[in-house]
Amino acid sequence: MKVLVINGSPRKDRGHTGAALGHLVKGMEKGGAEVRTIYTRDLNIGDCRGCFNCWTNTPGKCIQDDDMAGVMGLLADADLLILGTPVYVDGMTGSMKTLLDRFIPLLHGRFVLRDDHCRHPLREGVKAGKVALVSVSGFTEIDNFDPLITHVKALSRNMNREYVGAVVRPVAWMMPNMEGKADFSDISEAIVEAGLQLVKDGRMKPETLQTISREIVPRDMVLSIMGEYYGDK
Ligand SMILES: Cc1cc2nc3c(=O)[nH]c(=O)nc-3n(C[C@H](O)[C@H](O)[C@H](O)COP(=O)(O)O)c2cc1C
Repeated sequence: MKVLVINGSPRKDRGHTGAALGHLVKGMEKGGAEVRTIYTRDLNIGDCRGCFNCWTNTPGKCIQDDDMAGVMGLLADADLLILGTPVYVDGMTGSMKTLLDRFIPLLHGRFVLRDDHCRHPLREGVKAGKVALVSVSGFTEIDNFDPLITHVKALSRNMNREYVGAVVRPVAWMMPNMEGKADFSDISEAIVEAGLQLVKDGRMKPETLQTISREIVPRDMVLSIMGEYYGDK
């Protein structure tokens, strides 16, 4: 199985998204997957210009000459696409969205009906694989991921890919802060396990995902730590 991991955090492997992705990759590799990770921060990818040349004059090809050309083949060939992004203003990071906007040359311009919705068919050779989301947030409540999950589910349908779930870790920044004071190994082990499940079963078990997003500190404590740290700054 070929897996493409896109890390959309500007903090790359130093960030909490990167930490979660690292555990997931460990599990996927344990399951025998061939995993490739790319970082949006390292890529020079321009905004989609909305010219539709990729559907008319240069079918399947974007007129822009930038790093997206190299990403296209990886996207087309991925059995499983892992979108890793922190929650930024209730959605994905801008660089992740910019990259995903540039996906459209892999689709034909015409419409077909799929699940009673107008969609674009995939071009020949583009895999209709799966998509999973990995995300972390600053806030504590799990519903902060809802808009992002809704978006990733919708874009999976547009890419003709099956959405297979989300690894979400609220208030991720607390974990390194509490090193030595609390044990979070069950969470990292569950993320490794989720990676293995993705490769072996094509999905992740609800109980594994629940362990990953479990409460790690009471919300009152989070409020007081944030108050002390930032004060009136
Ligand atoms: C510009 C910006 C916007 C953010 N917006 C949200 C938000 O809407 N909800 C939230 O829970 N956290 C938000 N956060 C917090 C990040 O999700 C959090 O810091 C996360 O751990 C960053 O992931 P990283 O370490 O992988 O970069 C935001 C952070 C930044 C820098």
